[in-house]
Amino acid sequence: MAPANYEKAYLSRTRKSKAHFEMARKLIPAGVESNVRFFPPYPFYVQKAKGAYIYDLDGNRLIDYALGYGPMILGHNHPAVVRAAKEQIERGTMYGASTDLAVDYVKMVQRALPSIEMFRFANSGTEATMHPLRVARAFTGKEKIAKAEGSYHGGHDYALQSVDIPRDKLKHSAHQPAVPYGKGIPRSISDLVVIYPFNDWLATEEVLTKNADDLAAVIIEPIQAGGGCFAPRDGYLKRLRKLTRELGIVLIFDEVLTGFRVAFGGAQERYGVKPDMTSIAKIAGGGYQLAGFGGRKEIMEEIVPKEGGNVYHGGTYNAHPVSMAAGLETLRILSRPGVYRKIDSIGDSLFQGLRDAAEDARVDVWVENIGSLGQLYFTDKEMCTWRDAFDADAEKWRHWFMYSLGKGVFFGVPHADEHFFTSLVHSEEDIQESLDISSEAFRQIAHG
Ligand SMILES: Cc1ncc(COP(=O)(O)O)c(C=O)c1O
Repeated sequence: MAPANYEKAYLSRTRKSKAHFEMARKLIPAGVESNVRFFPPYPFYVQKAKGAYIYDLDGNRLIDYALGYGPMILGHNHPAVVRAAKEQIERGTMYGASTDLAVDYVKMVQRALPSIEMFRFANSGTEATMHPLRVARAFTGKEKIAKAEGSYHGGHDYALQSVDIPRDKLKHSAHQPAVPYGKGIPRSISDLVVIYPFNDWLATEEVLTKNADDLAAVIIEPIQAGGGCFAPRDGYLKRLRKLTRELGIVLIFDEVLTGFRVAFGGAQERYGVKPDMTSIAKIAGGGYQLAGFGGRKEIMEEIVPKEGGNVYHGGTYNAHPVSMAAGLETLRILSRPGVYRKIDSIGDSLFQGLRDAAEDARVDVWVENIGSLGQLYFTDKEMCTWRDAFDADAEKWRHWFMYSLGKGVFFGVPHADEHFFTSLVHSEEDIQESLDISSEAFRQIAHG
């Protein structure tokens, strides 16, 4: 198939990446280390990164709004974070025994997220949602969990349910069975997962009330970023908090993406809602693998070994010292007064600029952003629920994304149903350059 015009700049300046892709795909399925990294016709490969930029194998400089899929809120290779990691490397990288650094780290997490009375470390967002679900099952003595349609909570079997639902499997949102995301997931696991629609309160209330006797936990991205970006509306989170408390269901906020992103205290600070348990990852490690989960003491104590049994939780690399040193330094910087005002204002200038640029070009877009996190949809409708995004134009999104990439702007996770981020180090010039390039893409789209 002949390349689309909007891909031409990308194709002509990524020849080394193309050659590398041809070689990599023989050794690594799809030529990438995580399925999300693939996009057609081939992904670019990275040579190095610094500040707001990444550089590909062909030497192109890209303004980076993927930011490692979220973690690099201070930009790449922040000097203080690099220093903290290097100092820890000198002291040893892996002990297999616990450190005092872990307590310093947990105190910092508690400062940000006071709902976390006790905390355990993990290595990825996937683990950070998998473990608390099991803890909640032990605490309540119930087996099922509820998750929102469209939400992504990582790669374990309970989470890979109704991440995407083919149109022909869509049912009324209060009667949507769990649809496994991809092959290899046992039906028996899908049967233990109840699906509710984020931001549709009446259907959510119906689903949770009907299943309350079986539900151990409701897990939720407090800002739904699976499927793009949807802010909670009309007190949705507060209502959910009240209902789960009444029904005896553990409420787990998956703040893997929103934690330290939309406020120092994550979405729970931004929207003033206190969950029973919280999962964190991404920014928590400042660019290194660190994740964890925590919450109410009486629930977390299910992990403590005791007579009569407990919940297993372990991991060779849990609380990796280098990740903790880098993560702690990152959180120290983020905890300074005024930091989030600046992060949000840089985000608002990009996302508002995109709204204005699309309007000038007379292209219908809906731009959703919560400070530095957002997404752009080609549609004339307001985006409120994950189902709304079904009608957005993914081909126009791809045009905008690939054209911008070919001109040096990497607008985030390379799929229309994902999202992108700004960092503390994107300059006014970076934002303006990105908007100028976007404006050109919008004009092309307007002219068909
Ligand atoms: C909300 C949410 N939860 C969990 C995960 C899984 O995290 P990881 O990729 O570190 O396993 C992600 C990853 O993007 C996420 O966005």
